[in-house]
Amino acid sequence: MLFGGCPQLIPNCRILRGRGSARGNPPAQLAVIPAKAGIQGQGVGRVKNEQKRSIRTQRGSKMRTEICDKLGIEYPIFAFSHCRDVVAAVSRAGGLGVLGAVGFSPDELKANLKWIDAHVGDQPYAVDVVIPSKYQGKGEDMSAEELEKALSASIPQEHRDFAKKLLAEAGVPELPEGHPVQELLGWTETTAWPLVEITLGHDKVRLVANALGTPPADVVKEIQDSGRMVAALCGSVKHALAHKQAGLDIIVCQGSEGGGHTGDVGSIVVWPEVIDAADPVPVLAAGGIGTGHQMAAAMAMGAAGVWTGTIWLTTAESDWPPAQKETYLKATSRDTVRTRAWTGKPCRVLRNDWTDAWDANDTPDPLGLPLQYMVTSDAVVRGHMYASQAQSVGFSPAGQIVGSVSAVKPVRLVIQEMIEEYLDAVERLNDLMPE
Ligand SMILES: Cc1cc2nc3c(=O)[nH]c(=O)nc-3n(C[C@H](O)[C@H](O)[C@H](O)COP(=O)(O)O)c2cc1C
Repeated sequence: MLFGGCPQLIPNCRILRGRGSARGNPPAQLAVIPAKAGIQGQGVGRVKNEQKRSIRTQRGSKMRTEICDKLGIEYPIFAFSHCRDVVAAVSRAGGLGVLGAVGFSPDELKANLKWIDAHVGDQPYAVDVVIPSKYQGKGEDMSAEELEKALSASIPQEHRDFAKKLLAEAGVPELPEGHPVQELLGWTETTAWPLVEITLGHDKVRLVANALGTPPADVVKEIQDSGRMVAALCGSVKHALAHKQAGLDIIVCQGSEGGGHTGDVGSIVVWPEVIDAADPVPVLAAGGIGTGHQMAAAMAMGAAGVWTGTIWLTTAESDWPPAQKETYLKATSRDTVRTRAWTGKPCRVLRNDWTDAWDANDTPDPLGLPLQYMVTSDAVVRGHMYASQAQSVGFSPAGQIVGSVSAVKPVRLVIQEMIEEYLDAVERLNDLMPE
């Protein structure tokens, strides 16, 4: 298993480090106070506060976009995570939790979806798979096992030896005898398709998203015929137009600062380009969103909502090992790098000895997708199992917004703060309007 399941829940909000973020104090609550209610007969200060909150509530309803109604969610805040606890918590808090399925075997995915169904209440959630447009072995008529064997045979020994050497030099222990490592995972259509089929057996999944390209037409049709929406990520107008042409319901546009696989154009430039090109398909803005202020900027440009990833890594519910959470909490916005070192495709992660070594000129060039991940999967699993020894060579996908995350907080609080900040930003702009 790569990332799935949260073996232990960290129940309390543990403030590890203060970095003067705007998120120091949680808002009391997200009360919805009807306009003018409870104002008569109270002190002037209280009246002003309630009037202010009442105005905020009215404006807050402007956060609601059409996709909220289509998906049955309260806030257009989408949260990508490989951890089922985070997914369920986001959906329960009114956003849409999106479970990243690439790291799961079919059986693991079944168990995780069953768990989410039991813990998400009546709320909807989503699943994200990876069916890349291009990869080695695409179109081969082989079973998953045959494909894995054939791909594995094409990996140069030099790459495997180099990966092992880096782990040994860093002192990361070997896995216990017989511990399974799935090398291919869901990185191909052959291995992702069973994950989609399992997903469609779960009624509360209302959206299926695809990373790394437009999903094949038969996959889109099967998902839409089941009454669900289909989304896909992109980082350029070209890819957005391909998604639109394929009839996708939602396009997620990710700027370069985002965590995971990402393009090379920044959010503030690529979002409006894609929003224009995709029209009338709704676009979710991704890449660099960690506060409601950033969310307001995206919505001001015409985004239908936001799609976030990095900010959930260090939440109380997240299952990343404590040593890795600590690394994330210490990272600044300058500590990430876009590298092919882990998956073979440009992916934003925390820079460390592993990324420096693979990115150096005199070392093996990373292979393509999915071969490079087949080389590095051992390091991913060992890094997860022995996190405290592996931080210098560990796989830590993260966007630049990681530098603004300074404390472990429960998911619900992160969402509440985002909404408060969003309302602040909207009010600030409204105050700039002439009377
Ligand atoms: C740890 C991590 C793993 C990710 N894995 C995937 C993935 O498997 N599939 C996918 O569509 N996006 C993946 N992403 C990208 C997110 O879906 C999202 O687009 C991105 O995190 C948004 O930018 P942000 O990190 O600045 O919030 C990943 C992001 C992170 C941080």
